[in-house]
Order: sequence, then C-alpha cells, then structure tokens
Amino acid sequence: MASRPRILIWVAFFFFFEFVFCESVVDPDAPECTNRWIHIRRLPTRFNLDLLTNCSEYPVFDDFCPYLANHGLGQKTHNNSHSWYRTDPLMLELVFHRRMLEYPCLTSDPSAADAIFLPYYGGIDAIRYLFGPEVNSSFEHGLELYEFLQQDSPEVWSRNGGHDHFTVLARPAWDFSQSLDNDPPIWGTSFLELPEFYNITVLTLESRPWPWQEQAIPYPTSFHPVSLVLLDSWVQRVRRSRRTTLMLFAGGGGTSLLPNIRRSIRSECENSSNSENSTRIAGGYSKLCYIVDCSNGICEHDPIRYMKPMLQASFCLQPPGDTPTRRSTFDGILAGCIPVFFEDLTAKSQYGWHLPREEFGEFSVFIPKEDVVFGGQRILDVLMGIPRAEVRRMREKVMELMPKILYRKHGSSLGLRTRKDAFDIAVDGTIDRIKSRLEKVSLQ
Ligand SMILES: *[C@@H]1O[C@H](CO)[C@@H](O)[C@H](O)[C@H]1NC(C)=O
Ligand SMILES: *[C@@H]1O[C@H](CO)[C@@H](O)[C@H](O)[C@H]1NC(C)=O
Ligand SMILES: *[C@@H]1O[C@H](CO)[C@@H](O)[C@H](O)[C@H]1NC(C)=O
Ligand SMILES: *[C@@H]1O[C@H](CO)[C@@H](O)[C@H](O)[C@H]1NC(C)=O
Ligand SMILES: *[C@@H]1O[C@H](CO)[C@@H](O)[C@H](O)[C@H]1NC(C)=O
Ligand SMILES: *[C@@H]1O[C@H](CO)[C@@H](O)[C@H](O)[C@H]1NC(C)=O
Repeated sequence: MASRPRILIWVAFFFFFEFVFCESVVDPDAPECTNRWIHIRRLPTRFNLDLLTNCSEYPVFDDFCPYLANHGLGQKTHNNSHSWYRTDPLMLELVFHRRMLEYPCLTSDPSAADAIFLPYYGGIDAIRYLFGPEVNSSFEHGLELYEFLQQDSPEVWSRNGGHDHFTVLARPAWDFSQSLDNDPPIWGTSFLELPEFYNITVLTLESRPWPWQEQAIPYPTSFHPVSLVLLDSWVQRVRRSRRTTLMLFAGGGGTSLLPNIRRSIRSECENSSNSENSTRIAGGYSKLCYIVDCSNGICEHDPIRYMKPMLQASFCLQPPGDTPTRRSTFDGILAGCIPVFFEDLTAKSQYGWHLPREEFGEFSVFIPKEDVVFGGQRILDVLMGIPRAEVRRMREKVMELMPKILYRKHGSSLGLRTRKDAFDIAVDGTIDRIKSRLEKVSLQ
C-alpha cells in the first residue's frame, strides 16, 4: 500500500491548513469581504479524508489513488509539464475543498458567515451505494451527515434551516436523485431526494432538467495553470494554432445500429473522408471531419490524445451520451474549438453562472439532434455555411471564456488570482443564490 503514507501526509497538511487559515486571516472590516464571508464546517474525517484511504479498494471502480495526487488534480502528464495533469472529474470534491482553504474571506465564526461550506466528499462516499455492497441502502446516503449536523453545534444549521449551507457532489445530479420509495433502487442514491437536504445548495457536474437544490459547474479539465504567464502562453498557442480540420468528435459510442446522434456523426464522418480526395475542400481545410476514438475510457486520463487534435479543429461536436453533459465541452473550449451542441441540456440549461445563456449564439452552434438523426440534416453543411469571419469571431469569444471555465492550481500567483476562474465564479454564484434564498425565507 504505497499510497497510505502519502495520504497521511496529506491529511496532516489539511489540518495544518485549516488551523492556520480558518482563524481569520483577513481584516474583519475588509470591504471586499462584506457579505462574502464563508465558514468551513469542520467535519469528522469519516466524511472526507477517511474516504480516500481505501482508494484502491472501492468496488467496481478503478483504483483512484493516482488521481488524488496534487490535491485532486492528479499526476502531471509529464515530468516537465507545468500546467497539465491527469485529472479525474470526480476529484472536484477535493480540488474545491483545497481551493476553499485559500478563499480570502474565511471566518471561524459561523454566526458571522454568509455561507457555510460542508467539506463532504459525497460523490466518493456514494460509490459504495452506487456500485457496492450497500446498493440496497442507497436511501441512507447523507443521513449520517445530517445526524452529525443536528448533534454537533446544532445552532449552526438551525440559524437558517440549512439554507446557507453548500457542498459539492462531483457527479451528475442524476446519480443522487433516486426516489426514496424505489425498492430495490434502479440507479443512484437519494441524497437530493431527502427532505433533510432540500434547503442546501449542491454544486454538481450536471443538474436535473428541473433542478431544485443543485447548480451545475464546469467539469474540471486537465489544465491547471499556476501563473498568468503560463495561462497567457497557452492562450497564445491556442490563438496561433492552424485549424486544418473543420469538425472533430472526441468520444466513444455510436457503434450500435439504433439511430442516435453519435451514430449519425460517425457515419457522416466516415462518409466525408471518402470524398476528400476527389474534391478540393473549401475554406482551406485539409480534413472535413476527424474522430478521436475514446472508446473504453482510454482518453479519460490522457489529455494529449484529444487536446492536440482539438487545437487543429475549428468545431468540436458535443453530442449527448449516457447523460447530456460532457467534460469534453470544456476541453474543447480550452483548445479554442467552437462547440457544436445538439440539445440545450448539454450546456445551455446547465452552466448559467459560467456560460451565460444569452451568449450561446456568439460562441457555439446549435443543431437539434432530431434534425440530424431523423431529418437528414448534414452537420457539415451547417458548419461549411458559416462564413470564415464569423468563425474567427466565435473563436475569439470561446477564448474569452477559457479563464472562466478552468480551475487554476491552488497556491497560484497573485496575478492569476485577479482572473476569476471556475471556482471563483462558482463561489460568487453560490453566495448570491444563498442570499436570495435567505431573503425569500425571511419574507415567509
Ligand atoms: C478500508 O478497508 C479496510 C479493509 O478493506 C476496512 O477494514 C476499513 O474499514 C476500510 N476503511 C474505511 C475508512 O472504509
Ligand atoms: C519522472 O520523474 C520520476 C521521479 O523523479 C522518475 O522516476 C521518472 O523516470 C521520470 N520520468 C521521465 C519520463 O523522465
Ligand atoms: C438488493 O436487493 C435485490 C432485490 O431485493 C437483491 O436481488 C440483491 O441481491 C440485493 N443486493 C445486495 C448487494 O444486497
Ligand atoms: C428548510 O427550510 C424551511 C423554511 O424555509 C424550514 O421550515 C425547514 O425546517 C428546513 N428544513 C430543514 C431540514 O432544516
Ligand atoms: C454519404 O455520401 C453520399 C455521396 O456523397 C451521399 O449521397 C449520402 O447521403 C451520404 N451519407 C451520409 C450519412 O452523409
Ligand atoms: C486518399 O488519398 C490518400 C493518400 O493521398 C490515400 O491513402 C487514401 O487511400 C485515399 N482515400 C480514398 C478514399 O481514395
């Protein structure tokens, strides 16, 4: 168990950090902290760090010990890489916790806080219910946490009936929305169905079509710069990159015979390569369509496989898969590759804090999946019909979004901290949401 000593060091670090930073580091009258104070609830380690000690022994799941490195960013892709990591999105719970510890407006006094953060690794805790021996008790997910919150300093919860509490669950909300009376459960735990947690705000990777507690925030990508220089040099590389492919799809699926959007993309792509030799391709592209085969999860911790081709493509296709959202949406934005969406649930109705709804027309293309699968609409025809000047404008807009959807590395330079990243925007959104919730509750 080579991983165990490493984890112990890590646990020690966390406690040191909480100790040093939770004791008010900022001038209590600091104007930038007015209405923005956050208290990190101290939870017993069984709710977070203990869940990591058995990272190699979870049922029906990879050994996730390697992804814990660098506070959840994972291992670097190469020894000499500055900003690229083998990041697993499920580790957002750790990444967020680590970033929370350096939030500038922390308070050790819960009654002075505008929001209370629960550093609970709920998505990791869910594994035993989702895949493991406790599948038939999935309605119990979260009850132990609730019990703790009622017993330990119950006044912290009761001050606002939990309306000021928030936490992160780094999976689609679908995984936590099992109806309480499904016995045996079909899929998922019931965390979001428990009345006990109706009042809290939960940050997830994907929300339900009619969300109540949750708000979706970006999937972590593999890019976590630590300074403005490293971010800017990536932006330069993206801007200079020659786009020789018109459209790209990085993913798996689409091999079954049933009609679906991934299958349509595959057949259109294969078809297009047949015509490439005979006709000169318009717009200076040397390839109309390129598929990065990511079947069987081979791309998940290997960003090089898809980032290089994405840098060379103008458009990145983001079809729904098992669930409507994809990490690839954010990988593509980082590569300056204009996203093509086939349904609103993939991003437009999800990430309103980070990707404003009203701006979608400026940085993305929308082609309803029904038009493609059943209506004979060719994606290539739509994309080739967009004038080059328009493509350039959209790419500039995509590049403006880059800093907002990435999670910078913890401990980054002061310069980089002046650019709001996905974490900063998520915290701003959470604080605003809690504020308006509390106003509504107090009116009742
Ligand atoms: C870790 O696994 C060991 C043996 O598999 C078990 O005894 C222990 O309770 C587990 N610890 C946690 C925190 O799950
Ligand atoms: C990376 O660094 C580790 C430890 O320093 C070393 O064992 C390994 O060989 C290095 N890998 C490469 C590809 O240089
Ligand atoms: C869960 O319940 C179902 C149906 O009652 C049963 O077939 C299955 O073996 C149970 N699973 C576990 C892990 O206990
Ligand atoms: C949730 O908030 C309502 C008031 O809006 C309150 O009546 C209820 O007790 C709260 N639920 C919990 C579990 O605290
Ligand atoms: C494949 O190409 C042929 C000839 O160019 C065309 O008639 C056919 O509709 C195309 N099929 C698809 C699925 O795009
Ligand atoms: C297109 O040309 C390349 C080399 O120029 C060749 O390898 C490929 O087989 C050709 N494809 C078709 C469909 O003719």
